[in-house]
Amino acid sequence: MATIYYDKDADLKALKGKTVAIIGYGIQGRGQALNLRDSGVKVIVAQRPGGPNFDLAKQDGFTPLSAAEATKKADVVILLAQDMLQGDIYREAIAPNLRPGQTLGFSHGFAVLYGLIKPPKNVDVVMVAPKGPGSLVRSQYLEGKGVPALVAVYQDASGKAKATALAWAKGIGATRAGVLETTFKEETETDNFGEQAVLCGGASALIKAGFETLVEAGYQPELAYFECLHELKLITDMFWASGIQGMRKRVSDTAKWGDIHCGPRIIDGQVKAHMKQLLDEIQSGQFAKEWVAEHKAGRPNFTRLMEQDEQHQIEQVGRKLRAMMPWISSDVRQQTSDRRRPAAKKLAKRPRLSKQAVRWRASRQGLVRQGSRLVRRKLTRSRS
Ligand SMILES: NC(=O)c1ccc[n+]([C@@H]2O[C@H](COP(=O)([O-])OP(=O)(O)OC[C@H]3O[C@@H](n4cnc5c(N)ncnc54)[C@H](OP(=O)(O)O)[C@@H]3O)[C@@H](O)[C@H]2O)c1
Repeated sequence: MATIYYDKDADLKALKGKTVAIIGYGIQGRGQALNLRDSGVKVIVAQRPGGPNFDLAKQDGFTPLSAAEATKKADVVILLAQDMLQGDIYREAIAPNLRPGQTLGFSHGFAVLYGLIKPPKNVDVVMVAPKGPGSLVRSQYLEGKGVPALVAVYQDASGKAKATALAWAKGIGATRAGVLETTFKEETETDNFGEQAVLCGGASALIKAGFETLVEAGYQPELAYFECLHELKLITDMFWASGIQGMRKRVSDTAKWGDIHCGPRIIDGQVKAHMKQLLDEIQSGQFAKEWVAEHKAGRPNFTRLMEQDEQHQIEQVGRKLRAMMPWISSDVRQQTSDRRRPAAKKLAKRPRLSKQAVRWRASRQGLVRQGSRLVRRKLTRSRS
């Protein structure tokens, strides 16, 4: 049975009078730094200059330091730079300035598990890994909600490592949703597996395969985009809110039959065997070894494969279609915005939509026109 901590199990007092340094003001760094600061924790930020994140940190009211300076000033040092850079940053800037009694924090166990970082025995080493992107960590916090997270203690020199980690989790809002206790090994292996097999790799390969199958059979690429990519969000929102069966309750019987009868023919035993193979490579350390080697060689395959997919027809079609739905990017921007603007101001910032776009959006939101007003359509089911 999993141990899951909630607000009542964590005490922010563990961070009282302490300075927390967030090293790297990127996707996670920004969300976590702002949430901790809003929770009353003293936060400093280290961000290398030269990129937009440096300016963003300044705009958000921080004075970005170097990683070495921040380590000197902090009690808790949370390393939120790119996983492949963490080893070098630790060696060059953190390790020479680390003092006994400090806490070293991570949001992913990769660098520690695979030996890119070998912390001394006299510091606490902990992890709080949100199970969602940093933008959501921020937007959910502002809405009084939270993104669930994993917590782990790798090294407990002070005897207070878990209390510190739980206070950090509470400060970013994660204990509102639930913080599940794990180890660096379990977090890293399951996280890498999820990214490869389901969330990023599996999902994007499934979408592309579906799109290509329809287009190769002569169907319009735009229609294939709507069917295989755009609509997936509407379905995953249902998974998220009410599970697989909850989704099935909201689609037609034809969709249900297609799901339960045909889905297993696509994701069959062979696919599961491939998943097992990926997991074996993660557990043996082979994946980590190859990824570190790829990074050290200047990422030739990474760059080639990313460029190849940038040219894929689904990207070209998708760019055109999304440009006609400006509210999509505007909604994502709003999710990542940290300022609680008055509603009127927020609306003024939304892009001006054509009448046709307003009608289309309203219909997707289940609204219908009644005279001059838009009212919610009574809907118990939506089609897939
Ligand atoms: N993405 C997520 O939502 C997510 C979710 C869960 C866990 N995580 C984990 O969180 C960690 C951070 O990931 P991320 O996706 O947030 O990374 P990211 O968006 O790429 O941000 C990394 C930040 O670190 C900065 N940086 C790099 N070198 C630096 C240095 N020497 N000194 C100071 N700052 C430096 C980068 O600056 P530049 O902009 O100049 O490169 C960038 O702003 C990783 O361990 C990741 O696995 C991420």
